[in-house]
Amino acid sequence: MQTFSIILAAGMGKRMQSKLYKMLHPVGGKPMVGHVLDLLEQMNATRNVAIVGHGAEDIQAYIGDRAECVLQEEQLGTGHAVMQAGPLLENEEGTTIVICGDTPLISQETLGRMVEMHREHGAAATIMTAVMDDPHGYGRVIRDADGFVTGIVEQKDCSEEQRRIREINAGTYVFDNRKLFEALAKVTNHNVQNEYYLTDVFGILKAEGETIVGYCTPDPDEAVGINDRVLLAEAERLMNQRKLLELMRSGVTIQDPSSTYVEKDVQIGADTTLLPGSVLKGATVIGSDCVIGPYTELTDTRIGDRVVVRQSVLEEAVVGSGTSVGPFAYMRPGAETGENVKVGDFVEIKNAKLGDGTKVSHLSYVGDAVVGKDVNVGCGAITVNYDGFVKHRTEVGNGAFIGSNVNLIAPVKIGDGAYVVAGSTITDPVGEGDMAIARERQTTKPGYANVLRAKIQKRSKKEN
Ligand code: UD1
Ligand code: MG
Repeated sequence: MQTFSIILAAGMGKRMQSKLYKMLHPVGGKPMVGHVLDLLEQMNATRNVAIVGHGAEDIQAYIGDRAECVLQEEQLGTGHAVMQAGPLLENEEGTTIVICGDTPLISQETLGRMVEMHREHGAAATIMTAVMDDPHGYGRVIRDADGFVTGIVEQKDCSEEQRRIREINAGTYVFDNRKLFEALAKVTNHNVQNEYYLTDVFGILKAEGETIVGYCTPDPDEAVGINDRVLLAEAERLMNQRKLLELMRSGVTIQDPSSTYVEKDVQIGADTTLLPGSVLKGATVIGSDCVIGPYTELTDTRIGDRVVVRQSVLEEAVVGSGTSVGPFAYMRPGAETGENVKVGDFVEIKNAKLGDGTKVSHLSYVGDAVVGKDVNVGCGAITVNYDGFVKHRTEVGNGAFIGSNVNLIAPVKIGDGAYVVAGSTITDPVGEGDMAIARERQTTKPGYANVLRAKIQKRSKKEN
C-alpha cells in the first residue's frame, strides 16, 4: 500500500510574536519544520506534500525538493490547509500521514507504530494523542464509554467540563486517503475561530460509522506543539535532553547534563567526556576518548580521537587526533590541524593548516597559512596576512622555528628547517635551513642607568 504525507506549514505563528516565520524558528539547531521533514523521509512515503502560505518563499526555499510545496493563499484553518493537497492526492488509494510543521519531537517509532495500528484496525483515521499535565491550548480528545474516539474539540470551543480533559490531540494523524478528502468536503467553519478545522473530520467519519483509533503515546513530550516562545524553549530542552540520553547510553560521559547543549545531528564517539558548559552544534563530529570543555562551543567542527579542547570556540574547524586546543583558543573556518598538534592559549587560527606535531603555544594569530610538520611558532608570533586590501598567504616548511614576536609579512615563505629569530619582522623569503634575523641591533651602555635617571629628573624639575 502506498503512503503519502502532508505537512501543514502555512500558518503564520502569531503567538511567536516574531518577524521570523514560525516554521523557520530553529530548535535543536535546525528550523522546526526540518525535523518533521527528517521524520517523513524515514517513513519512505511515495509523495510528501508541504502546505505553505505565510513566508511561503522562504519556507519553500528551505524545504527545497524534500517535499512538493502547495500554496494555501489564505489561512482558513488546518482543514482548509489539507484540502489544498486535494488536487495532488485525492484520487490516490493509500494511507496519508498528516503532520503539523510545529511538532518537531515526534519520533519515527511512534509514527511507525501509528501506521501499523491504523492498518491493523482497518481504520479510517488514527489520531496521535497524549496525556498532558497541562493540556491548555491543545484540542481535547473525546472518547465514548467504550474508549473509542468520537471527536476532537478545540481549546477555544471547549465547555468547562471538556477543558478538564487531559488527553490532547498531538496534531499527527494517519488517514485512509480517500476517506480523508471525502470527509474534508463536508467540514464547515462554524466555530469560535471561523476556521475549517481538520479536527472536525473525526466527528464526520464517526457519524458515518467509520473506525477512528486514538493512539496515546507513552511519552507525552513527543506531542509538544510549538505555538509560542515558552513552548519553543520547552521543545529545545526536551530535544537536548533526548540527545544527551542517547549519547550517554552510547558511551559518552556528560558530567553536567543541565549545562550541556548538543544539537541533534552531532556525533560523538565512546569514552569522550563533555564537561560543563559544552555547546556542540550543527554537523559537529567528535571521535573517541576526547575531553571537551568546560565552556566550549563547537560548530560544524570535526575532531579526531584523544583530543582535548578547553574553554575554546571552534567553527568549521578540523582537529586531528591527539591534539590539544585551548584554553581560550579560537579556531575559525578553514582552521585545520594534523595529529598531535598544540593550539594553546589565546591563539587564533583561521583558514590555515598546521602539520602533525606543530605547536602554536600562546598568543599567536595564524591566518591564510600552510604550516608544515613539527614547526614551533613562538609566543606572540603572527602572520601579517592583510595589507588593508587583500589577504596574502604564508607558508612555513617542516621543522621550522619561528621565534617569539615574529611578524611574517605575507606573502612570504619560510623553508624547511629554517630558523627565524625572535622579534624579527620578515618580509623576504627564508630558504631551507637558513637563519633570518630582522631587528635593530642592541646597544648597551655600562653603568648608564643612573646617569639617565638624573637627566630625566633634572628635565622634569625644569618643566614644573
Ligand atoms: C492544532 C490542532 C489541535 C492540536 C494542536 C497540536 C486544529 C484545528 N487544531 O492546534 O487540535 O492539539 O494542533 O499541536 O487542527 N496551518 C496551516 N494552515 C492554516 C492553519 C494552520 O498550514 O490555515 C498549520 C500551521 O502552520 C501549523 C499547523 O497547521 O503547523 C497547526 O496550526 P496551529 O495554528 O499551530 O494549530 P494549534 O492551535 O496548535
Ligand atoms: Mg500548533
